[in-house]
Amino acid sequence: MSKAIKGFSKLTKEEKIDWVVSNYFSDQETGKAVLKQYWNKDEKLQQVHDEFIENTLTNYYLPFGVAPNFLINDVIYTIPMAIEESSVVAAAAKAASFWMARGGFKTEVISTKKIGHVHFVYYGDYDTLLNFFNKIKDKFYRDTESITANMRKREGGITDIMLINKNYEEPNYYQIKANFETADSMGANFINTCLEQFAETLKREIEASDVFTEEEKQIQIIMCILSNYTPECLVRAEVNCSVDQLATENMTGEEFAQKFQRAIHVATIEPYRATTHNKGIMNGIDAVVIATGNDFRAVEAAAHTYAARSGQYRSLTQCEIKDGQFRFWLDIPMALGTVGGLTTLHPMVKFAYELLGNPGAKDLMMIIAASGLAQNFGALKALTTTGIQQGHMKMHLLNVLNNLGATDKEKDFFKIYFKDKVPRHSDIVNKFNEMRAAVTN
Ligand code: MEV
Repeated sequence: MSKAIKGFSKLTKEEKIDWVVSNYFSDQETGKAVLKQYWNKDEKLQQVHDEFIENTLTNYYLPFGVAPNFLINDVIYTIPMAIEESSVVAAAAKAASFWMARGGFKTEVISTKKIGHVHFVYYGDYDTLLNFFNKIKDKFYRDTESITANMRKREGGITDIMLINKNYEEPNYYQIKANFETADSMGANFINTCLEQFAETLKREIEASDVFTEEEKQIQIIMCILSNYTPECLVRAEVNCSVDQLATENMTGEEFAQKFQRAIHVATIEPYRATTHNKGIMNGIDAVVIATGNDFRAVEAAAHTYAARSGQYRSLTQCEIKDGQFRFWLDIPMALGTVGGLTTLHPMVKFAYELLGNPGAKDLMMIIAASGLAQNFGALKALTTTGIQQGHMKMHLLNVLNNLGATDKEKDFFKIYFKDKVPRHSDIVNKFNEMRAAVTN
């Protein structure tokens, strides 16, 4: 049986499913049933989801939960989170309550600049190109006036266009680099459309000019694309309290603060730890980015490049203990949109926005940064006190029991059984088998 196919995207959804199950599944009826049980009964709603991407077969569920009690800049939020990892929402909610009692999160958007490039090759003299570029610069703005009209009404648009010489890294390689403000939209389509027009303008103007030789006129546009690295689309979330307020059951506030700071320092100097540390921050960030219909791959990519901006991959959070005060903060680039994309199409995304009071992009940056900081605080607090497995396995207990096929009654028993101990995977399985064996004997 051939597993290659031409024209797959032209098949109907039923035909695509038939092709997939008949090529890859021994029990085709079960394969089909698994896919179809996730179809929405509301055909129109299903069609909306089908049309988000090509070759949709069904929907893929993620739990959509909420973390209440997030006090951010004196407003209380209940934050929507879409994520499969069992302990993330619980940790966010716990950290939110902890900080609510200590003044909450303070957040600020530091800047909102986005960047895009036309990457091109030019075989000629740089000064000639630079003089020419400066002379025709206005034309880049003029030729994109119709594209930028709406954005300018929202105080966005192109804020700068420059020529960058990259010869020292790659012979004959240049860029048009442009800065953008994109108001409440993420701006990817807007930026890419502007950049493609810049490329057309550059080619046209060079062709019509008499300052270049015929050889110099043969520029090659390599590509026109926004950069997902947005170090100047930056948000800060911060918490602070007196060191005394950090005391735990077994540690003084001073002991906890010192150990916490040491944990941050480890993640600052040790990339192996920094990666896990930042992954924990992204647990809190991605879950809200997904719930609000934003591009989590873009947010992830920017965050990790930013974490490596010094030349070494480091912690995205920082901590300071000074004059009896503990301060803990996160600086993170975040390109988000609250208009366009899925925001008006996906009913759950619309729900998430209403839950958050319909924030603009800047407000959403601040909410999501607070969620990332909360998550990192929760992880480090657990790691430096009880150990991560206590909370993590407690949340994971139900997954293990579901895998074992436990009944509701058995699940209730296990919740009580592991109330005061870490539910290790092997302990759960052993106890479960022991119980089942006792029942059958
Ligand atoms: C697990 O998803 C995330 C943590 O590993 C983060 C951390 O170690 O800081 C708990």
